[in-house]
Amino acid sequence: MAEYDIFTTVDIGSRYTKAAVVSYDGEIYRVLAFAEVESRGIENGDVKDIASFKDNMNRLFDELEEQYPKLGKTEFIFSYSSNRFSLESHLERVVLAEDESEVLITEEMLEKIKDDSIKKMSGEGTGYAVYHFYPKRYIINDLRNVFNPVGMKARSLTMEFIAVKIDYPLSEMIKSILGDFIGEEVTVYSSHISSAEGVLTLTEKDSGVVVLELGHDFTTVIAYLNGIPVSMKVVPVGIKHVIKDIAYVLGTSYKEAEILLRNHGSATISTQNEEELEIEYRALDGRTIKRVSVEKLSLVINARLGEIMNKSRRIFKDLERDILEYRENGIPGGVILTGGGAKIKNIAELATQVFRTNVRIGTFCRSFPDEERVEGAEDVVDNAAFSSVFGNVVEFIKLIPEEAGGIKEKSRFLKALKDFFKNLF
Ligand SMILES: Nc1ncnc2c1ncn2[C@@H]1O[C@H](COP(=O)(O)OP(=O)(O)OP(=O)(O)O)[C@@H](O)[C@H]1O
Ligand SMILES: [Mg+2]
Repeated sequence: MAEYDIFTTVDIGSRYTKAAVVSYDGEIYRVLAFAEVESRGIENGDVKDIASFKDNMNRLFDELEEQYPKLGKTEFIFSYSSNRFSLESHLERVVLAEDESEVLITEEMLEKIKDDSIKKMSGEGTGYAVYHFYPKRYIINDLRNVFNPVGMKARSLTMEFIAVKIDYPLSEMIKSILGDFIGEEVTVYSSHISSAEGVLTLTEKDSGVVVLELGHDFTTVIAYLNGIPVSMKVVPVGIKHVIKDIAYVLGTSYKEAEILLRNHGSATISTQNEEELEIEYRALDGRTIKRVSVEKLSLVINARLGEIMNKSRRIFKDLERDILEYRENGIPGGVILTGGGAKIKNIAELATQVFRTNVRIGTFCRSFPDEERVEGAEDVVDNAAFSSVFGNVVEFIKLIPEEAGGIKEKSRFLKALKDFFKNLF
């Protein structure tokens, strides 16, 4: 029997696959193991080489198992990144009474509308698989807008909801590979939604905030309002392009360029200081030693990151204009930077210059500003590259209703939830 309060969570990125074993007792998240490997055999959520994909996952699980031997008994949650994920708003209207009478709206009714909507949108027929579902608001008798209609009476009820979906064949392929690998049906999420879930505070999600996930292949801009994601857009430029620029300008390999970015890079233009005037690196032949100034390196990085930030800012401005609440109040939470790119030195300074709003770096432990709810190595809990790893657990746990009580009760609920997902996909 699985211990449902211990999770093995894996985020498959285009450059790195990150994973952790996390326990949750209803209050505290404890990191029991973690690992990171370079991703192989997968591109944009599409598995291109099953053998090397599996080899790679095996290496990752071996590393985790060394630290936590009972890995097989945990609940597995996966996420992957892809620019094929889309977020859309939909309406689902149900007639509750044919005549003039009104019917009392219950929690179960809302669950049923939700289940029916997901079923309607998913599968071969529609071409999509729904990964995340958030009720946004309800309209009673086509007239009154409410956030929670439970306990009210109505003849008709319309649910406005947000769905995050991806192409069905792509989803089927990855789910079947992961399912075969684990030996049971797995829960799979969008890396991008999970990255936001893993770093935002409840207040930020409620009052409005924008997450900039600085990934390897591309950048994702996700907006939250009233506790749920309301927009997700992709800027087709990522840290990969910064690395390529460094490699091209300095005449070196992508590998060496990535090391230069991590160890000596700066998002803002550095003015040289005495002891770190120049850095040495290897040319393409792997032997010749070359030199570059810290300033020149930062110029290359700053140019491309500036492009990423400016393109993201355009999306930010559009959101401020198009979403009524934002138009009236602005985006109070400002911009939260996350993903591996958020670890580039001085990135928050650059984002502040470009966005002219409050900016912070988003990591899991910082999503609980007033409470100590996360225990584990700072290497991961305060690491912006691991945000989706933890967001997966946050997203999974969110589906447990308050009434589920203690974690023992929750375990039973999680089992039911698992069966629900099994039937769904
Ligand atoms: N400490 C660091 N300093 C600078 N750059 C870093 C650092 N750590 C990671 N990066 C870079 O950030 C980028 C994004 O890393 P991340 O692990 O988020 O990628 P990914 O999840 O594989 O990509 P994607 O989400 O686009 O599929 C990578 O190109 C990586 O090299
Ligand atoms: Mg990622």
